[in-house]
Amino acid sequence: MSTTESAAGRITAKITLDAAFTVGPVRRRTFGAFVEHLGRCVYTGIFEPGHPKADGDGFRTDVLELTRELGVSTVRYPGGNFVSGYRWEDGVGPVEERPARLDLAWHSTDPNHVGVDEFAKWSAKAGVEPMMAVNLGTRGTQEALDLLEYCNIDGGTAFSDQRRANGAENGYGIKMWCLGNEMDGFWQIGHKNAMEYGRLAADTARAMRMVEPDLELVACGSSAPTMATFGEWERVVLTETYELVDLISAHQYFEDFGDLQEHLSSGHRMEAFIKDIVAHIDHVKSVKKSAKQVNISFDEWNVWHMSRDESKTPAGKDWPVAPVLLEDRYTVADAVVVGDLLITLLRNTDRVHSASLAQLVNVIAPIMTEPGGRAWKQTTFHPFALTSEHAKGTVLQLAVESPRLSGGKTADFAALSAVATFDAAAGEAVVFAVNRSATDSITLSAAVAGLGNAKVIESVTYANKDPYWQATADDSTSVLPGQNVSVKLDGGRLTAELPAVSWSMIRLAVDGAGS
Ligand code: AHR
Repeated sequence: MSTTESAAGRITAKITLDAAFTVGPVRRRTFGAFVEHLGRCVYTGIFEPGHPKADGDGFRTDVLELTRELGVSTVRYPGGNFVSGYRWEDGVGPVEERPARLDLAWHSTDPNHVGVDEFAKWSAKAGVEPMMAVNLGTRGTQEALDLLEYCNIDGGTAFSDQRRANGAENGYGIKMWCLGNEMDGFWQIGHKNAMEYGRLAADTARAMRMVEPDLELVACGSSAPTMATFGEWERVVLTETYELVDLISAHQYFEDFGDLQEHLSSGHRMEAFIKDIVAHIDHVKSVKKSAKQVNISFDEWNVWHMSRDESKTPAGKDWPVAPVLLEDRYTVADAVVVGDLLITLLRNTDRVHSASLAQLVNVIAPIMTEPGGRAWKQTTFHPFALTSEHAKGTVLQLAVESPRLSGGKTADFAALSAVATFDAAAGEAVVFAVNRSATDSITLSAAVAGLGNAKVIESVTYANKDPYWQATADDSTSVLPGQNVSVKLDGGRLTAELPAVSWSMIRLAVDGAGS
């Protein structure tokens, strides 16, 4: 490793891009998000009849616009912990006849004004692919089959005709289905041990495939790498389900406990989690001598300041409708971490086939709303939107030489986190890079001759003198990604200054010699 460190708070890192070395395709499903019946994500988030910007279906058009601008691909629904106590039938049919129910997961009341049909309609307007979760907490195989029939059978059966009577002539054709949510968690309604869940997931998957063989099914993996059962859970669940599912889920949240350098190691910790899950999947594959490849659905990831007051669920006799819950405000540093997490997911595109930022609106979200008022962007909106817009084609296998850092509990991680994508047809390559150092800027030196003749078309960096700056409804625009004027390209070598705690995107037009 040839890295240099100077005393002046400047370190050097090198990357090499070559069109011949690839990891796999850029998958649109990497840019998924999540809408749960939780807090104000649905009610006063995506749905607020009576809001001046609501459309005829009660959907906020300002939120729809921001969802499209964010570049979201799939949206997972309706939970999360919520799904493990959910009766989907409560949310269909005439709204005035729908029952209000206690939501035990979030100690709230759900009026059921939004259900499967509204979500399908909202998804079509937002231009996203719906990803549905079934309740394997209080319910089981039969109810999952009923919901599948309601959603995907065109007509001629009890549930599909009920959907048609409710206004949706054609089936929704939902392909991705989560078999429950976080069933390894003691907090989950209907929490099970690995064997109990594995058997139920296998039975449900088998039956769902009898209806539609080509569904893409996601078994629950661990809800965090810190779970005592992590690893053994994957082994047992996959032993029961391996030939019946396509993906196993991963969930991971990152929190800033006041040690910025530790917080900036989040991407490194996500990468370690992915590598461990891959090992557990491939162990089962090998033991089973299977030709099938199960991959990862990283269907909950984000920064979540879980121990702060924002995440305290209501208690006692109060069961509010759409309470303010998990409404974290994000800093520029949090946005850098989110950008790094997305880089990490892309870097592992060979095994991470789907991912969902948790969540989309108000609840640990890039989009915030005021009831009756404005919708605005958090800091985390920017790296997600720019990556989703510009990461196209193929993920390149980079050679990276970076100084190593340690922070808090995490030792020995690369200061530079980078990924590059290459779209041969469009003649464009993009480098996404995060400087994980809390103190030092990085001089990045990138060898790009392996792409052919290149020229810089855009270079953007998101950073701020105060990394703890947060956007608000009144000021969400004074700190935005800006042009990085240090970027230079000379004789196949690109150089750039990446400030401490920063996320950057450098777009290159390439003439195709490397494609
Ligand atoms: O995204 C918030 C919650 O985090 C989800 O409901 C649950 O699945 C996870 O623990």
